[in-house]
Amino acid sequence: MRTQLTAPAIRAHKARAGSEPLVMVTAYDAPGARMADEAGVDLILVGDSVAMVVLGYDDTLQVSVADIAHHTGAVARGLASSAPDRTAKKPLVVADLPWMSYHTTPVDTVLNAAQLIRSGAQAVKLEGGRKRLPMIEAIVDAEIPVMGHLGLTPQSVHAMGGFKVQGREHRAALELVADAKALAAAGCFAVVLEGVPDEVARMITDAIDVPTIGIGAGPSCDGQVLVFHDVLGLGSGNYPKFVRRYADLADEAVAALERYVADVGSGDFPGDDESYHVSEEIAAEMLKGRSSV
Ligand code: KIV
Repeated sequence: MRTQLTAPAIRAHKARAGSEPLVMVTAYDAPGARMADEAGVDLILVGDSVAMVVLGYDDTLQVSVADIAHHTGAVARGLASSAPDRTAKKPLVVADLPWMSYHTTPVDTVLNAAQLIRSGAQAVKLEGGRKRLPMIEAIVDAEIPVMGHLGLTPQSVHAMGGFKVQGREHRAALELVADAKALAAAGCFAVVLEGVPDEVARMITDAIDVPTIGIGAGPSCDGQVLVFHDVLGLGSGNYPKFVRRYADLADEAVAALERYVADVGSGDFPGDDESYHVSEEIAAEMLKGRSSV
């Protein structure tokens, strides 16, 4: 019987206490979730990166709560039907609260978080530091586990002036440490650190009792997260420096599709084995019928 990884179990996962690094990957649909589960990840993030890597937008600002709920449902259904023998634990599903779903009132924030939980997530993630504390506290108060996200927060792309590494200056680094401490104190069970120097990620990881999960934040975090399409080489070819590509599936897919195009063109596809047939009797009747038409 598989056990479900829970937010409290993740919260206890600190490298300095001897825990193995946490592994998180994004997934946006049922096949992706099943593959991630079979590979043995601890957490699946239904990220708002779906806007860029699946839906073709230039940033993450274009997706709504309904969009993330739609993809969360697909991930949850994929996990319900996956039964890997290699992993004992079922990954925790974390859904991203998209831009403008937690920027107005705590009430709206809780209702939006609830929609993602009802779609199949067990936790939600939101971006930002101390100014998001009222929203984080409201979500925690509604008994919904919440993950923080600091550093390069893609929903702030316009305010940051682009997708830029954060916390390079001393003062900015200290602000990030203060933000991380505030998020942990408010009840976040883990904090994603994106696009920050290794030294800053290490300082934050040392400063808080909940795990940090890094993306472009060096090796000192308590875990790592990458985007599914980046890990598998399913992207458009522009991969950030911090991505390690473990496959080039886009190239393989194009090569396979080229073979399909060639086979249809040459008449080689479909073959007899790939076609349906009527029985010999019916075929004979049809032939007779044709000659009397
Ligand atoms: O949406 C996403 O993929 C994310 C990760 C980059 C952490 O938030």
